[in-house]
Amino acid sequence: MSHLLFEPLTLRGLTFRNRSWVPPMCQYSVDKQDGAATQWHVVHYGAMARGGAGAIIVEATGVTPEARISAEDLGLWNDEQRDALTPVVDFIHSQGSAAGIQLAHAGRKASVHPEWGTDGDGSLTESEGGWQTLAPSTIAFDGLAEPRAMSEAEIDETVAAFAASARRSIDAGFDFVEIHAAHGYLLHEFLSPLSNTRTDSYGGSPDNRARFLLEVVDATRAEVGEDVPVFVRLSATDWDEGGLSLDDTVELSGWLKDHGVDLIDVSTGGNVMATIPVGPGYQTTFAEGIRERTGIPTAAVGLLTEPFQAEHILATEQADAVLLGRESLRDPNFPIRAADALRFEIDYKPAQYHRAYK
Ligand SMILES: Cc1cc2nc3c(=O)[nH]c(=O)nc-3n(C[C@H](O)[C@H](O)[C@H](O)COP(=O)(O)O)c2cc1C
Repeated sequence: MSHLLFEPLTLRGLTFRNRSWVPPMCQYSVDKQDGAATQWHVVHYGAMARGGAGAIIVEATGVTPEARISAEDLGLWNDEQRDALTPVVDFIHSQGSAAGIQLAHAGRKASVHPEWGTDGDGSLTESEGGWQTLAPSTIAFDGLAEPRAMSEAEIDETVAAFAASARRSIDAGFDFVEIHAAHGYLLHEFLSPLSNTRTDSYGGSPDNRARFLLEVVDATRAEVGEDVPVFVRLSATDWDEGGLSLDDTVELSGWLKDHGVDLIDVSTGGNVMATIPVGPGYQTTFAEGIRERTGIPTAAVGLLTEPFQAEHILATEQADAVLLGRESLRDPNFPIRAADALRFEIDYKPAQYHRAYK
């Protein structure tokens, strides 16, 4: 039996102990609307590290206050937020997992009620603490408030904010960073012709629409140095006529590879309301297409729940790693369980629990 799920992977100066990873998942668990991690984050991410994950990508973290989806999101625009993340990273490391963080700007999908814990949904009003959202153009996401089109100076400031957050990520101890350019958030909004109708050098042609993301990638690399892997999460298709397609994303992934990106985390959708043919492994074909046609490593995500399914994705060379989101919420010990299912002996079952594994 092959055990690719438990084969280490090296990207730049970082070796992941296995290829069963946890994707970013917003927790909306900041207590004081200050962007600072809490004990929830230590325990939540700690459990998955203890459960054997090769890497954990901490949830979408705002690079500025207005970059947050909700006021309960993590942020990384100040040093207090950096310091609050250090215990999260330290515990992940103590369990042998690699720690990554997703740096994000929510663009026109910012300033909304969190998914749970409040009565309302949709955009926050001013009296509820809402703020003016930013986007490439003034086109609103269905049902949300109209954004303001960003000036070139604001784009420059946002590039600098991503870079400063990347610096703080490394200072907090993270091993790698992921730039969020998927799910209809700011960088995806610039990439997609459905949300970007600008006529300056950030709109129009595919390379103009990619300019903002490539500037963020370059600025991030300048901060994190040559040894640190940089991932980019993309939505490989908008699932909509006139939107981004796999071919567009393959072209973009080639540019990202040329700019030193180490892995594409391949998701889909989120920029417009669309009918998505959701089912087990429904996005792996996009990870495969990008990997095959550009040679850049990919991670597959989306309704992956079973050890043999995960192994199959790696064995058929669709991706270099698999990300299990909701399955990790249901069972933070998924990697340990998968090792048992695949009959592979791992040496990182917690010693404290040895009586459970006799
Ligand atoms: C609770 C929750 C929060 C999420 N937050 C994020 C996020 O912060 N950033 C992101 O890129 N995707 C986010 N996602 C999407 C997941 O990373 C993943 O792509 C998606 O859930 C599909 O994988 P799954 O079927 O294994 O859950 C979130 C998903 C869930 C369930």
